[in-house]
Amino acid sequence: MGWNATDYAANAGFVPALGAPALELLAPRAGEAILDLGCGDGVLTKRLAESGAEVLGVDSSGPMLAAARALGLKVEVADGQALPFDARFDAVFSNAALHWMPRQRAVAGGVFRALKPGGRYVGECGGFMNIAAIRTALRAVLKAHGYSPESGGGQTYLTAEAFTHIHEAAGFEAVEARIIARPTPLPTGIRGWLKTFRAGFLDEAGVPEAARARIVEEIEALLEPVLNDGAGNWKADYVRLRWQAKKPL
Ligand code: BEZ
Repeated sequence: MGWNATDYAANAGFVPALGAPALELLAPRAGEAILDLGCGDGVLTKRLAESGAEVLGVDSSGPMLAAARALGLKVEVADGQALPFDARFDAVFSNAALHWMPRQRAVAGGVFRALKPGGRYVGECGGFMNIAAIRTALRAVLKAHGYSPESGGGQTYLTAEAFTHIHEAAGFEAVEARIIARPTPLPTGIRGWLKTFRAGFLDEAGVPEAARARIVEEIEALLEPVLNDGAGNWKADYVRLRWQAKKPL
C-alpha cells in the first residue's frame, strides 16, 4: 500500500497518539537498544527515543521513512516479515503495524532472532474483528458496483489465542496477549480515513478514479447510522490486540 506522510498526519494522527498505552507497557529505559518495527512517520518512535533509549525504526514505506528521518530519527527500510537482525536489541516495539504483515510466523521468528536473550517484545495492532463495520460496508458497496474485493482487505487481524500460539511456537515465553475494543474518533471523518487507508484497496479492486467519489459517498451513507454520533462526529470500530512477550535467557 502506498503511503502519503502528509495525508497520514492529517487523517491518522491518532495512530501514534493512541500508541501511548503500549509504550507505557514497554517502559523503555535509557541506554537500551530498541527496534521500532513498522515505525511509519516516526511520531511515536520519537517518543520512544525521548526515553534515552537507542532506537532504530524500520518500515517498508520510503515516504514514511523520509518523514521519520526529517524528525532526526535513525531509520532503515526493512520488511517486517524478513527482519535482518541477530541478537541486537533489548526490546522490540511495534504499534499499528503487524496487521499489514500477512506472514505472521515470519514476523515472530524475525523478532525473536532480533532480540538478545531476555529481551522483550511489546506492541499493539489491529485485532480480531477490527473495523468490522467499515470492512463490511466497503465490501458491500464494491460488490454492488461489480468489483470483487479481496475478502480480508489485505490485513491480518489475529485473536489473542492465535497470536499467543504463533509466538510460543517461535520460542517466546510469558506471552500475554489481549483484545481491547477501542472506538476511535476520526478527526476527518470516514472520508479522511478511507483516503489514507483504503486508496490502495480501491486500486487493487480496480476501481477507476472517476468512480471513487460515488463509492466513498455510498460507504459513508451506509456507515453513518452506525459510526456517526448524529452530531457529525465519526468513530471507527477499532479493536486492538496488545501483547507483551519475552525471549528466554
Ligand atoms: C488499524 O490500525 O487497525 C488499521 C488502520 C488502517 C487500516 C486498517 C487497520
